[in-house]
Amino acid sequence: MDLSGKALADRINALFQLNWEGWLNQASVDNLIRVLDQQQKENIVGDILEIGVFRGKFAVLLAAALRPTEDLYLVDLFAPLPPGQDTGSINNERDLRHWAQHPAYSEDQLLSKFKTVLDSSTMEHIRLVKCDSIAMPLTGSFRVIHVDGNHAFKTVLHDLLFSFAHVVVGGTVIVDDWCHTGWPQVGLALEAAMQSRSDMVVTATDTAKCYLRRVE
Ligand SMILES: C[S@@+](CC[C@H](N)C(=O)[O-])C[C@H]1O[C@@H](n2cnc3c(N)ncnc32)[C@H](O)[C@@H]1O
Repeated sequence: MDLSGKALADRINALFQLNWEGWLNQASVDNLIRVLDQQQKENIVGDILEIGVFRGKFAVLLAAALRPTEDLYLVDLFAPLPPGQDTGSINNERDLRHWAQHPAYSEDQLLSKFKTVLDSSTMEHIRLVKCDSIAMPLTGSFRVIHVDGNHAFKTVLHDLLFSFAHVVVGGTVIVDDWCHTGWPQVGLALEAAMQSRSDMVVTATDTAKCYLRRVE
């Protein structure tokens, strides 16, 4: 949808207020709206990508921003985490137990949920990619990328370097949990990925997410 200004904010906020299961606060929603609004004004074009989807709380906001020529790629395991996975958490065992009880939606569950709020033309542009992000079979150019998959250093670094290589000039990479004390490897991976990347500039932060714009 080519929404901007108040219409964009109203649409995104209405979807946020559905209160789907997940982790998202109003400051992050406001920052996302600012990014999307700016991209609309500057006519920044590209597909949209989320790495780590869970139950679609953030993805549905991204879907609402799609233009008719753009696709939303959603990368996830779409299944419970493999046993013994390093999640990057300082309480790995506790968090693995939590994830076992609250796994990501399967592909069918996610699409069914989306269909309750998205029209059929938007649904046609949603591409589910079931894989470990380390092996994402994606090419292409993206105007927004939300990095929110596995929070272990090696995976976050991979996901960020992939994102920096595939975000368009003027596009934004959003990094979740960049300063979360429970997931310290995310911030370390962000610092490592930013080395020698003067083209990636921090444009906003909130307690959950960091927003990096590609400027050249
Ligand atoms: C924190 S949740 C994502 C939350 C989601 N972005 C939201 O806004 O609600 C992390 C997600 O990453 C997925 N994930 C974990 N490790 C992954 C990996 N190696 N590759 C792809 N997805 C992974 C999990 O299945 C889970 O759905």
